[in-house]
Amino acid sequence: MKRFIIPAISTAIATVALIVFLWRIRLTPFLASAQGRVPDVLLRWLFTISAFFFSLVLSFLIYEVFAFRRRRGEEGDGLTIYNNPTLEIIWTAVPLIIVTVLGIYGAIGLVNIRQPPAQNELVIDVQARQWAWSFDYPVQNIRNMSEAVLPVNQPIVFRLHSSDVIHSFWITQFRIKMDAIPGITNELRLTPIQVGDYRVECAEICGTGHTYMMAPVRVLNQADFDQWVSQQQQAAQATPAAGGQDGRTIAQQAGCQNCHSLDGSPSAGPTWKGLYGSQVKLADGAEATANDEYLYRSIIDPSAQIVQGFPDIMPKDFGGKLSDEQIKAIIDFIKTLK
Ligand code: CUA
Repeated sequence: MKRFIIPAISTAIATVALIVFLWRIRLTPFLASAQGRVPDVLLRWLFTISAFFFSLVLSFLIYEVFAFRRRRGEEGDGLTIYNNPTLEIIWTAVPLIIVTVLGIYGAIGLVNIRQPPAQNELVIDVQARQWAWSFDYPVQNIRNMSEAVLPVNQPIVFRLHSSDVIHSFWITQFRIKMDAIPGITNELRLTPIQVGDYRVECAEICGTGHTYMMAPVRVLNQADFDQWVSQQQQAAQATPAAGGQDGRTIAQQAGCQNCHSLDGSPSAGPTWKGLYGSQVKLADGAEATANDEYLYRSIIDPSAQIVQGFPDIMPKDFGGKLSDEQIKAIIDFIKTLK
């Protein structure tokens, strides 16, 4: 029994020290969704249980290496020990109980995000494509938003669609992640609980632009959200729909602003502010003037002239998606951004 005292004390001290350390450091970022509580608690308990077993195994291991080392003059083999039923039952039963409890708790977390529709939930269609997100609010008739705007404390269902490859919808502060798969609509249910600015990222390697596949997520209080909705609805009525001549709307619907800022702020692609008429340094060292011809070519054949310092990630299919008239409208819009 005496042999157990030292490693047992060491296990207790190491466990307490590790738990204090783990509970003091921030294991996860700030939590902003109701469904994120289960994963947070689960993670904390996984670390706590692991702290105990890590301390237990290492304490006994280190103690035994010293206590049972071969002494001078010892030549024979050590004791041979066959089975020990009590120990075997303990080391089978204890992990079984732990994984069962954690498994049940994890299943509760899964039910939370896949549960049947809540009443009055807000439907948002998420369209993922290489390499951008866009958001539609079918009931409010708001389409092609390059940011997700959500009301706080409101159950939301994200219907995840992909038009090309598998992407993964992930907002760190909401904790939950789900794949967007071509041909399948995955439903993800969330309730934001904190007003703030977040970001949706893609968590599935989906091509060269994967790292840039992000979009802002804003959680507003209900009054601000209602105001945003009516602003968007008015804006949609004021400007002609796709096919019209308003370059700003066409650019927004094509998702251009996911990568090109309008105010000079850095993004995945060059900003449009002050672009028209400027001298552009290209990746091959040449220079080009950003005139109509240059902008037209950059939209329909983006790889032809890569701007220095930017990766070749712009989708190559805008020439097929946009009419010449629409491209011209976008270029006219760029001209206005001085
Ligand atoms: Cu989409 Cu990675």
